Amino acid sequence: MAKLWGGRFSKNTNELVDVFNASIEFDKRLYHEDVRGSIAHAKMLGKCGIIPQEDVTEIVAGLEAILKDIEAGNFSFEVALEDIHMNIEARLTERIGAAGARLHTARSRNDQVALDMHMYMKREIVEIAELLVKFEESLLAVAKKHNKTLMPGYTHLQRAQPITFAHHLLAYFNMLQRDFRRLEGVWAGADMMPLGAGAIAGTTFPIDRFAVAEELNFGTVYANSMDAVSDRDYVIEFLSFAATLMMHLSRLSEEICLWSSTEFGFIELDDAFATGSSMMPQKKNPDIAELVRGKTGRVYGHLQAMLVTAKGLPLTYNKDLQEDKEGFFDAVDTIKFSLAVYSEMIATMTVNVEAMEQAVSKDFSNATDLADYLVRKGLPFRQAHEVVGKCVAYAITNGKFLPEISLEEYQKFSDLFEADLLEILIPENCVAARVSYGGPAFSENEKQFAMGDEIIKKQEVKLEDLRKKI
Ligand code: ARG
Repeated sequence: MAKLWGGRFSKNTNELVDVFNASIEFDKRLYHEDVRGSIAHAKMLGKCGIIPQEDVTEIVAGLEAILKDIEAGNFSFEVALEDIHMNIEARLTERIGAAGARLHTARSRNDQVALDMHMYMKREIVEIAELLVKFEESLLAVAKKHNKTLMPGYTHLQRAQPITFAHHLLAYFNMLQRDFRRLEGVWAGADMMPLGAGAIAGTTFPIDRFAVAEELNFGTVYANSMDAVSDRDYVIEFLSFAATLMMHLSRLSEEICLWSSTEFGFIELDDAFATGSSMMPQKKNPDIAELVRGKTGRVYGHLQAMLVTAKGLPLTYNKDLQEDKEGFFDAVDTIKFSLAVYSEMIATMTVNVEAMEQAVSKDFSNATDLADYLVRKGLPFRQAHEVVGKCVAYAITNGKFLPEISLEEYQKFSDLFEADLLEILIPENCVAARVSYGGPAFSENEKQFAMGDEIIKKQEVKLEDLRKKI
């Protein structure tokens, strides 16, 4: 097949080169953006008097027909035509002749691919933000149901202090809010319009880059042609966002795996979100959580790969930059899937309230509360810590927990202990008393639920705005 750039060549490319060089297998997913971008470019060329208006009409109609063909599955993508840009342009010229051949005036694939990627990213950001909000809603809904569900909070995976399941889930809700904020930051980088940078140094034609930006709903225009074609910061920022989001999902996955083990027994995943073993009939495995945890490594890899790809590149475009796509696309697919499946998995799991409460009543997670009790009776905290440490050691030696030790026994450790200490040790009271801002007290979490609802409302307003800008 004749190359669109074949003029200065006297031989066909080697077959291996064709395959190795081509990106069509993966960049065909940019077809919609490529068509839309080309239509905007053609209109601008017409408006600026660079190509005749009749050509614009033909180009627009031709591109719209090609879009329909692609969507109907009636378009055959040719490896010999390298990438989505040349596949579409070649087909256009085949259909409409000379007008099609004028489309690439004042444009290079370098600024064209950058435009497509920016547009595609903006669209995906909106879809990902929608999924993020959905997952937040799902977490918040489960949290609201479990404001009274006590469980041990862990540090070092050792029982630390009593909390509620709601408080635990709200921690993830907070992480996701930061993810949303980071995604807004990614938007800023994606919302810059690169077209008109040409291959590297702009163009001699009287183009209007701002008209293209307006037509395509871009907030800003790249101010330097060389930066416009070599920038991949926006991809790196996206992947960094994706890596952080996956890290959060991976930490939750680890907890889901632990909680659904027989040893914990805190939750049971719905049958629709678990899998069995081909050999062991009794097994119910948290494969989805494990896969999300596993895929996190892949997304980290994409971030690392893009950083390394970009680090040694002289300005401006180098073919290395074609490598920005597969990792980015894979990260998009991975986070969208992970968020979607998590929203439902969390909403449908069974929470074993009794197992959680049992765990928190048969442990020493109330020891800090006993120390705080002594502090309120006037003992400096450091000494109170020491006294309660001795009580704990005594209890362990005698095979008891703190509520099972008698007042007389306690008074051997400190005469500040009085009959009211038992109240302090009840896990529900431990939680209720932790009213410091951001603490797990039931009353505090009630406030957090209301704030959560507000946050989601605000995010939805932002989303509504972003939808208009894609
Ligand atoms: N397929 C290429 C890419 O994704 C498009 C830009 C190619 N530009 C060039 N001068 N070879 O990066």
